[in-house]
Amino acid sequence: MAEFVLRKLPGAEVQGVVSTTPDTAVVFAPTVVKTPAIVVIVVWLWRLVVGLGRAVWRHPVVCALAGGTAALVVLLGWRDALVVWGGLVCAVSSWAGLWPEAGMRWLVWPALSWWRWVWVYRRKWRSVVAVAGLVRVVRGRGYAPDLVRVVSDRWVDRVTVRMLDGQDDTEYAERSPGLAHGFGAVNCRVSSLRPGWVTLTFPRRDALVRVVPARPFPRRPDVATVDVGMDERGRPYRLKVHGTHVLIAGATGAGKGSWLWSVVRGLLPAAGEGLVELWALDPKLMELSFGLELFDRYAGTPEDCAELLEAAVAVMQERAGRYAGVRRSHEPSTQDPFILVIVDEVAFLTAYQRDRDLKVRIMAALATLTTQGRAVGVGVLAALQDPRKDVLSIRNLFPDRIALRLDEAEQVDMVLGDGARDRGALADQIPRDPSDPSVGAGVAYVRLENAPEPVRVRAAYVSDADIRQMVLRYSVVSEAV
Ligand SMILES: Nc1ncnc2c1ncn2[C@@H]1O[C@H](COP(=O)(O)OP(=O)(O)OP(=O)(O)O)[C@@H](O)[C@H]1O
Ligand SMILES: [Mg+2]
Repeated sequence: MAEFVLRKLPGAEVQGVVSTTPDTAVVFAPTVVKTPAIVVIVVWLWRLVVGLGRAVWRHPVVCALAGGTAALVVLLGWRDALVVWGGLVCAVSSWAGLWPEAGMRWLVWPALSWWRWVWVYRRKWRSVVAVAGLVRVVRGRGYAPDLVRVVSDRWVDRVTVRMLDGQDDTEYAERSPGLAHGFGAVNCRVSSLRPGWVTLTFPRRDALVRVVPARPFPRRPDVATVDVGMDERGRPYRLKVHGTHVLIAGATGAGKGSWLWSVVRGLLPAAGEGLVELWALDPKLMELSFGLELFDRYAGTPEDCAELLEAAVAVMQERAGRYAGVRRSHEPSTQDPFILVIVDEVAFLTAYQRDRDLKVRIMAALATLTTQGRAVGVGVLAALQDPRKDVLSIRNLFPDRIALRLDEAEQVDMVLGDGARDRGALADQIPRDPSDPSVGAGVAYVRLENAPEPVRVRAAYVSDADIRQMVLRYSVVSEAV
């Protein structure tokens, strides 16, 4: 390094140092001032206290165990301390054996979280975030985002990170493949629930590999949300159906049928009480016709479908006229039940419809329902194979969207909205096996109107036998259009 004097200040010399490091061509440094040893010691002690405080705050149980063991050894000697420890371990293991659920919740998962924190995330954090490009260098000093918390369960690790000031979650979403590889996970999903913080979800095992059996009928009728399957943490997943419209997109064989039937199944008790009406449009005649008796109205041919949609529009307009100035939202009742219009293969009625007049009527009715229906209790649940705009130009009118297996990566953002794939909605990578149709079938990424983070869910498989059982229990006299 070549040193040179920049300019003289009274009492101190400011020197410039030509650095050999590439990103700091010239470093201006003041003359070194000797710091008294006491100042250095005080700073070190302060850092030690802060570090200890932070460790106790972040790992209270581990610190309490370490502190308690040290206290026992000091008070009783190491032999007695060992006996006390042995007794404690026996007592806690017996408790966990007697109440396994509580044992997993309070013992196993916290211990696993701590271990994953120490061994995977803390150990590799700086190097992985640096290589992934999330570290910033300001005036020669490197700043890394702060790893705050790791919560592990049977299926995933959820890592809470305090971002650097000025960073945003889209940057993390772009780097998510690097983070996933860095921490040895197959995938990393990024979500941000409050400013400045980001949560990285790393799946460890796939809860959705196995087929989810049809959900039990709800004990009490519920119209607002329906238990349709399982999320990737192994918990039941409830899909909102009332007060929204839902679009389901997936390639052929992706399992759209299991989503439609799971919704129907969950709504049947409410339909039985007259709080819900299910109107089915089945232009392929191959899916919903199997449970024809479950639907209050059913249409198969394009003409019938157009009429049924127009009938839904008429109900919607009649209700809107009655509600105007009186109420602003719909409460399901036997007088005004929630009407769910279920459309399988909607593109058969729109893009692939050769009769122009019919096509115009159907598009107009669908657009009217999806723009005005939800406030008056008329919802649309539509499934389609091809999400391109020319196939369904009104797809943006569906607030909630579900992407099952798709053929191309670009289709993911078409269905779920911009940036969804970067955030980990890898719907184009959902596995498929031509010799076993159940592989990956029903697995989907759900993006809701009020939550931009995609959630990975597998719909329950409603088999033919399940549909027959539903028909036996809940059949209604269906009206043909
Ligand atoms: N949730 C699921 N779990 C396990 N297997 C499923 C599930 N959903 C569907 N399958 C299997 O996948 C096959 C195809 O499913 P489905 O007919 O629902 O697909 P689709 O998306 O409607 O296809 P298409 O567009 O051709 O109608 C089913 O016969 C079934 O064997
Ligand atoms: Mg189908």
